[in-house]
Amino acid sequence: MAIVEEIQEAQTSKNTSVGVETMVDWLGSRISSYCGTRISEGETQKLDGIVRKRMELLSLHDPVHFFQLVESQSNEGKAEWDQLLSLFMNGETFFFRDSGQFALLKEHILPALIHRRKAARSLRILSAGCSTGEEAYSLAILVDQLLPHHQDWEVHILGIDINVQSIERAQQGVYGQWAFRKIDAELQQQYFQQHDSHWVLNESIRKMVTFQKGNLFADTFSFSTLGIDELDLIICRNVFLYFHADAIGLVVEKMMGVLASDGYFLTGHGELPPQAVRTLQAKIFPDSVIYQRPQTLCTMS
Ligand SMILES: C[S@@+](CC[C@H](N)C(=O)[O-])C[C@H]1O[C@@H](n2cnc3c(N)ncnc32)[C@H](O)[C@@H]1O
Repeated sequence: MAIVEEIQEAQTSKNTSVGVETMVDWLGSRISSYCGTRISEGETQKLDGIVRKRMELLSLHDPVHFFQLVESQSNEGKAEWDQLLSLFMNGETFFFRDSGQFALLKEHILPALIHRRKAARSLRILSAGCSTGEEAYSLAILVDQLLPHHQDWEVHILGIDINVQSIERAQQGVYGQWAFRKIDAELQQQYFQQHDSHWVLNESIRKMVTFQKGNLFADTFSFSTLGIDELDLIICRNVFLYFHADAIGLVVEKMMGVLASDGYFLTGHGELPPQAVRTLQAKIFPDSVIYQRPQTLCTMS
């Protein structure tokens, strides 16, 4: 019997009971089909712990009642779904994560884009799966360093993530010391103000970045959903690691639809399956591979 049917039957029959394990299986496949993520054995265990804690906190003893809550379209149901995603998603991130890739961006990719966009004075960047914002703000700091007069340009840096709690934290731009574990102290002091144990990002950098909730797998990518298109650079790192191969293919295709013909696409190392790589044009640098749409006529400067 399918999980949903089993649970629905339990809602109407006094003889059938549903265990937390069944609920967790159902939630795992629901999360997978909603977000594109793979649910391994380890993740099932993680979800099991989350569900048990949530039920305890909500004083729900019957897993069927938890199912009814998450399935309902009520405000409480939607909030519980968001809460589950927030607890389940791995949001590990920090400023300038992967120094090699940031060196590539600073020394080659962004200078080339800035040179090409000199006439239009516009730069459009997407940090997809941005978590709490460190990646998007690191990009903004690079733009600030490379383009000191960026106020005269239209610079759009957009961060999107499925985790609403991460998006809210990103919008605040306030970080603990652990977020700076790979940044040198001088840079940290230049761009952040210390308040007790926290560091507040300078307003001038914060203003360069906007954040919004978005589902890379389920949402359509267009000007109306993102507020920008013809993107110069899309960064999606340490996100596809958790996706199943078909979902990666679909998301990459959507991303290519909003990437400028000479724009760049950067993922974490080895995150794309061969079938996705085949649809892209790879540019190999010592620090990292970066991709473009196929058959582009642009040249690196
Ligand atoms: C490990 S973090 C990576 C953060 C940052 N890109 C980095 O590399 O430091 C992965 C992020 O992807 C987000 N994510 C996972 N599935 C998503 C989806 N379908 N749509 C949008 N964001 C998603 C998670 O919420 C999480 O914040």
